[in-house]
Amino acid sequence: MPLGAKKSSIIMCGIVGYIGRRAAYPILIKGLHRLEYRGYDSAGVALINEEGQLNVYKAKGKVSELEAFAADKDTGGMIGIAHTRWATHGEPNTVNAHPHYSESERLAIIHNGIIENYAVLKAGLMEQGYTFKSETDTEVLVQLIEYTQLNEHVNLKTAVQLALQQVIGAYAIAVLDKDHPDTLIAARKGSPLVVGIGEGEYFLASDATPIVEYTDQVIYIDDEEVVSLQVGQEVDITTIGNVQKTPEIKRLELSLSQLEKGGYPHFMLKEIFEQPRTLTDSMRGRVNVRQDNIALSGFIDNKERFLSAKRIIITACGTSWHAGLIAMYAIEEFAQIPVEVEYSSEFRYRKPVINKDDVVIAISQSGETADTLAAIQLAKSKGAFIFSICNVIGASIPRVSDSGCYTHVGPEIGVASTKAFTAQVVALTMLALCIGKEKGTLSEENYLKIVRELGQIPDKIERVLGQNKRIADFAKTFTYAQNFIYLGRGYNFPVAMEGALKLKEISYIHAEGYPAAEMKHGPIALISQEMPVVVVAPHCGTYEKVVSNIQEIKARKGRVIAIVTEGDELVSKIADYVIEVPETEECLTPLLTVIPLQLLAYHIAVVKGCDVDQPRNLAKSVTVE
Ligand code: AGP
Repeated sequence: MPLGAKKSSIIMCGIVGYIGRRAAYPILIKGLHRLEYRGYDSAGVALINEEGQLNVYKAKGKVSELEAFAADKDTGGMIGIAHTRWATHGEPNTVNAHPHYSESERLAIIHNGIIENYAVLKAGLMEQGYTFKSETDTEVLVQLIEYTQLNEHVNLKTAVQLALQQVIGAYAIAVLDKDHPDTLIAARKGSPLVVGIGEGEYFLASDATPIVEYTDQVIYIDDEEVVSLQVGQEVDITTIGNVQKTPEIKRLELSLSQLEKGGYPHFMLKEIFEQPRTLTDSMRGRVNVRQDNIALSGFIDNKERFLSAKRIIITACGTSWHAGLIAMYAIEEFAQIPVEVEYSSEFRYRKPVINKDDVVIAISQSGETADTLAAIQLAKSKGAFIFSICNVIGASIPRVSDSGCYTHVGPEIGVASTKAFTAQVVALTMLALCIGKEKGTLSEENYLKIVRELGQIPDKIERVLGQNKRIADFAKTFTYAQNFIYLGRGYNFPVAMEGALKLKEISYIHAEGYPAAEMKHGPIALISQEMPVVVVAPHCGTYEKVVSNIQEIKARKGRVIAIVTEGDELVSKIADYVIEVPETEECLTPLLTVIPLQLLAYHIAVVKGCDVDQPRNLAKSVTVE
């Protein structure tokens, strides 16, 4: 079974619906603005006006661009649906934006999620003569609903029930039928959907943020449920098998600001806790633990380029550069191809030697970092093959790359990168494993061992997150510090650097990451009680040597926070604070050891009263030099 099939997807499109006694359009647009925090690349709205016309307006870009487009259009009507799209199937553009009409233009649909069997459904509909305007899985669904209505002679609700019985995947949908302007139908599986109950009006949304200002009475729709909203009628909920359900009305407790953060105090903490699910999403359809296999289309389509590469150059900035450093260890270990990891800002100006048989891997969460974009444009001009690891579909860097791999972790709102980093490490590890297996430099046995362990990582991260409270408690004792030093060896040297960057950028405490063995070449002169030392010391290759480094620090009265493997008996006797992470393969330890460092930085910054999500002087995407 593909990894994580049981977990809900966090694909982050936004859905808003309204049916009632007021003009729908202003409520829908305001609702889309409320959902902007989720990130998106296009927006649209569908309305049934008083004359029974079904009008659909959509635009690439921001909600404000949709408003400008619709400014001189007929936006009348007291029933409508609206959508912000975070592209998964098909480029971000107006054609692929939602809502989608059915072929007759009698129906309109909006959708959040992924229909995994859309290709099979689409082929069946094309055999029935249906044609399609977009590349989306959503348009297939609305055509299937219309086809079902016409062939089974049923109403919209029944057609939606029957169509969804054929669907595999995650969905939250809302559908309008212009021949029935008194009814709004919605359904969900795997993507959230909530109904707001007003006075003579109903609201629908992906989460309660567009609803909370109108009502605190809500119903959370459950998986495989279909809801029918009609003014003057009670909310009608059935399963897709048409079993009647009793709606469970709840009272909203959270404020608007809390709702946007999913109940967390900051986006950064929400994104740290999302990592088990985002890594599951990131590996979905790629790491198949039952088939003992990794399928990375960007590698499969360009196998020869990787197998014939004399050298791999990795170019990135900041946290993405740290992911690249980890990739260097994995690619050289498994694929035995020389790897150079470059700061993009240096690489683009230092007149580097770049050959046609070089493979250049660009890593960028935003896909818009100016230095990284310039670095790959330079490499491309020299004939190198460009492969990018990015989180934003259709961003500048993937657009100029020859191929790549999207991390699919949804928008990362916190300026300090967390879930994107772990997804980058997973993507790069998968790539290293694929190259090694194909080249024969990685044994089948080791390949299988690591693939299977990859499947366990989300649950193991969940266990590390369980120590959040403990880390928060002892983080308070370190807010006095002016300086930190972070140490690690091997795969965990880049983790030490990443931990230091996290602390620096959100708590404004100076911190450096160092290879642990480098202490004796200078930094050990700094050791004192005033400078906490974080040592990443899981059970792997150089564990004993890291223990010696800790002893050297303790001998000089240093205070040590150690990240160790569960059951460690040696370090836990000498370090001042110990955080345990589950045992895993050495190349996968960064995915676990970075979690406590993310939490430590977060809690120290919170105690210091820093603006965790928007640290001073920083931007989420550095699109300037
Ligand atoms: C990481 O926490 C920082 N926000 C920053 O170093 C970031 O990683 C860097 O600017 C690169 O951004 P990118 O991944 O979007 O290219």
